[in-house]
Formats: sequence, C-alpha cells, structure tokens
Amino acid sequence: TAQELALPVGVTLDRFIMLSQSAFPYATGELSQLLRDIALAGKIINREINRAGLVDIAGGNGTDNVQGENQQKLDIIANIRFIRALKNGGEVCAILSEEDEDIIHTGNDHGKYVVAMDPLDGSSNIDVNVSIGTIFSIYRRVSPIDGPATREDFLQGGRKQVAAGYILYGSSTMLVYSTGDGVNGFTYDHSLGEFILSHKNICSPQNGTIYSVNDGYINDYPAFVQQYLTKCKEKSCTARYIGSLVADFHRNLLRGGVYLYPSTKKTPEGKLRLLYECYPLAFIAEKSGGKAIDGFGAILDIIPTSFHQRSPIYLGSSTMVDDVMKC
Ligand code: AHG
Ligand code: MN
Ligand code: MN
Ligand code: MN
Repeated sequence: TAQELALPVGVTLDRFIMLSQSAFPYATGELSQLLRDIALAGKIINREINRAGLVDIAGGNGTDNVQGENQQKLDIIANIRFIRALKNGGEVCAILSEEDEDIIHTGNDHGKYVVAMDPLDGSSNIDVNVSIGTIFSIYRRVSPIDGPATREDFLQGGRKQVAAGYILYGSSTMLVYSTGDGVNGFTYDHSLGEFILSHKNICSPQNGTIYSVNDGYINDYPAFVQQYLTKCKEKSCTARYIGSLVADFHRNLLRGGVYLYPSTKKTPEGKLRLLYECYPLAFIAEKSGGKAIDGFGAILDIIPTSFHQRSPIYLGSSTMVDDVMKC
C-alpha cells in the first residue's frame, strides 16, 4: 500500500502522488492530476487570503448564498478560483459548491470525476485573521462519459467517495487528504511553492480530552448532548472551539478530541452541510481510525437526497464519539 512505500517525510506532494499512484489501484493518472489541481487551487486561495487585509477583498459582499448566509468577498473569490483550477485541470466534469445552488458544468464532459466543495470554510473568521479552510470530496462519475454530469453523480453517498480532504490556512497552510488508504498531511513551503509531506499516515488518537462545540447554544441542544457536555465539564475536559470546522477538526485529529454540531431548536437538521462538510471530514475521520456519526449511525451511511442538505454531526476520536452515543 501507499503507507508501506518508502516515502520519507520531506517529499513533495507531486512525488508522493506519483509514487503512491503505482501502488494504489484507484489512483489512476486522472485522479493524480485532479489532486494536483486541488493543491494548485489551494495555493492560489492561500495567496488571496494572505493579502486580504491589503487589497480590498475583506468583508461582506452584500449578497446571500443558497443557504441564506451572507457571503464574504473571499467566499466568492475562493469559489471562482477553485472552479477555474478544476476547469483548467480537465479531470472534473462538474462541481457542486456551497456557494452555488446548482451543479456547475465545467465543459470537460470527458472528465471522470465530480467534486463537491466548501471553497472557504469559516467565513466569520476571515476578517479577524483566524484560521479558515477549504473542504473537498471526490467521486467517480456514474453518468455516461462524454455526456453532462447528473444529480446522481453527486448523490452517491459518502461511502462512494474515492478521495476527500481539506486545506487549512492556519499558522501554516496544510493539505490533508486520503484516497482511502491512510491519511497524509502536507505543509506548504512558501519559499518553494510546494506542499511537503510533513504528517505521514495520520492516526487519530482513540481517546482525548478536547471537546469542541458552540456552547452558547447549549440550551437548544438535545438532552443527550447536554448530558455529554455536563460529563465533559465534570471531567474537566478542555473546551476548544475556533468556529472554523476545518481548524477544529484538524486540531482534534492531531490531539484527540470530539467535535459536535448537534441539531438545535432553530435548525433541527443541524448546520453543517452533508455533501461538502460532513462526508469529506467523516471520510478523513474514519480513514484515520476515528468516527463520525449523526446521532443515529455513521455519517457516511446517510443516504443523500439533496445537494445542500444538512446533518447533525459528532466526529473525532472513536472513544469520545462512542461516549456521545452512550448518552
Ligand atoms: P462556512 O463558513 O463554510 O459557511 O461554514 C461555517 C461553519 C463551520 O465552519 C463552523 O464550524 C460553523 O459554521 C460554526 O457555526 P457557529 O457559528 O454556529 O458555531
Ligand atoms: Mn457559508
Ligand atoms: Mn463550511
Ligand atoms: Mn464555506
């Protein structure tokens, strides 16, 4: 497997993709190219984000997206950049984005893949210099090649993802992804313009002490969540909540912890979107040895019915996710 290959920490992402491709049956040349295109999009968005305070791209855009959220200028810029990189790359026939109601056809009808994405995660943190991210989820299309992509391509279900991951624009910029065979993390070296393998074969700690939840809504959460949070407080667990899903997830993945976004009275379906937030992070969680559930079963087993549907989510270290369920 890719994990058994002699791929030392310090190799570039390109080399890693090239070497793991020969060992991994799914990683055809096209998927490899698609992963490189996503990395390129990440570099471009990283550049835009870094300049945000200097050029006039901070703040609200004065528009709402399909979710009824205020769009930030960077939400839109990241969306455009990502779509452009995938169009130019040629491997993707269609894209589903948080920022667009319908599927975006790239014009590459011969492309074998579709991508669902949250181009910029953590909008509320953009203007205050706090970590934000990008989330992506890749499927092999089920519609006939050389025709247009269809709804079914995007509604295959989380278990059908062939790859998923995220880019975290934090104190350093990192790309973390999996093609199903382990999870690897790459840190961006600005001076080289390359992602470098820095976190090989990431394994989620089975247990941890961190819980991440918007505590301000506690009175609106279901009783079992309130109970679980009371237990966390009794055990003096550590509360950490950035408000950027990618950043909260990443910290818990490395340190051990659980992330909770339950249903609330106002939002019975929860807040986070199944196709481009919950599925890809659930994929990374499971492939690293962690868990992701919606309170009933595995997130990846939820049968999707619409592009922007939401789901409650509890994800991270397996013992902690089990403890949520025990409540
Ligand atoms: P997005 O910025 O892509 O719309 O996602 C926002 C999400 C997620 O990043 C974060 O974990 C969550 O919203 C925070 O929600 P609350 O402010 O309700 O805690
Ligand atoms: Mn949003
Ligand atoms: Mn998001
Ligand atoms: Mn977003």
